[in-house]
Amino acid sequence: MGKEKIILTADRPTGKLHIGHYVGSLKRRVELQNSNLYDKIFIMIADAQALTDNAENPEKVRQNIIEVALDYLACGIDPTKSTVFIQSQIPELCELSFYYMNLVTVSRLQRNPTVKTEIQMRNFATSIPVGFFTYPISQAADITAFKATTVPVGEDQEPMLEQTREIVRKFNAVYGETLIEPEILLPDNSACLRLPGTDGKAKMSKSLNNCIYLSESAEDLQKKIMGMFTDPGHIHVQDPGKIEGNTVFTYLDAFCKPEHFAQYLPDYPNLDELKAHYQRGGLGDVKVKRFLNSIMQEELEPIRTRRKEFEKDIPAIYDMLKKGSKAAREVAADTLSDVRKAMKINYFEDIDLISAQAKKFGQ
Ligand code: TRP
Repeated sequence: MGKEKIILTADRPTGKLHIGHYVGSLKRRVELQNSNLYDKIFIMIADAQALTDNAENPEKVRQNIIEVALDYLACGIDPTKSTVFIQSQIPELCELSFYYMNLVTVSRLQRNPTVKTEIQMRNFATSIPVGFFTYPISQAADITAFKATTVPVGEDQEPMLEQTREIVRKFNAVYGETLIEPEILLPDNSACLRLPGTDGKAKMSKSLNNCIYLSESAEDLQKKIMGMFTDPGHIHVQDPGKIEGNTVFTYLDAFCKPEHFAQYLPDYPNLDELKAHYQRGGLGDVKVKRFLNSIMQEELEPIRTRRKEFEKDIPAIYDMLKKGSKAAREVAADTLSDVRKAMKINYFEDIDLISAQAKKFGQ
């Protein structure tokens, strides 16, 4: 049997999606979707995972489901090619998680570097919700329920994939070959691995107010770019400037293509020359920011326009999500049935068990 190629990926609906999501994953997903190299593509809105650290905030999660769905469609996710669905509508995922929990130790979860950082960022200290602590296990359920072979995500998700593979190996070793070991698919442009916030801080986050959203208006986009963190030592145009840690150049690494120079900045042949001039001194931040603005406006304008179109029929989006969830649930139910069988908890379907037991009791 030739192995099917299946993609599963997801986002937590805690806000509108930003360009970090876009370069880190969303853009790639659309390319993968349109490559026709995959047999199935599942895109999940991870509301249950979002609730693991937003238990008191269900309204926030609920309101953002539509925002995320609109962002998907605006970027080119096509529901005729990809199954878009909502995590909480697939109860099979909870059951899988419950069984996988037996295969993971507390100390292994404590070693997960992404969870560690998130615990620090949320100041959970000694009050970590159990659901949050165990979300890597639930993520393993998300991935394996769809027999995903490929998970296109940012590098911060690497520990989740590692943990998923461990669960798969353990499950298959204990109960027999049942689950598929997934692979991570990282973005290929290294600047896209983690796009910093506009203030230069490591991560874009709503609470830090350093995000650029996909649905940002043209004016706000320009304002955010013009206010971006650069090199604090680069005070006068003639001063030599630093590229490392300079957000404007990191964003150029992520968004700039060679043809942009001819179009918007013909004085320079390529990005290397632009960087060299900045480092030598004599190139002002404003000029570089204007160039970045032209490039990003070009990239985000069609997304913004498509989003406005989709916003005109909200019930249709919910309908798409409902259909997607139904289709996804069928797939997850098949996997769950395999899992129950492998774990020998499918009592009523196991005729051999019943007849052997009957014999044991002298019938
Ligand atoms: N943890 C992911 C994030 O924060 C979201 C997610 C949930 C996910 N389940 C997943 C990603 C399964 C990939 C596969 O972005």
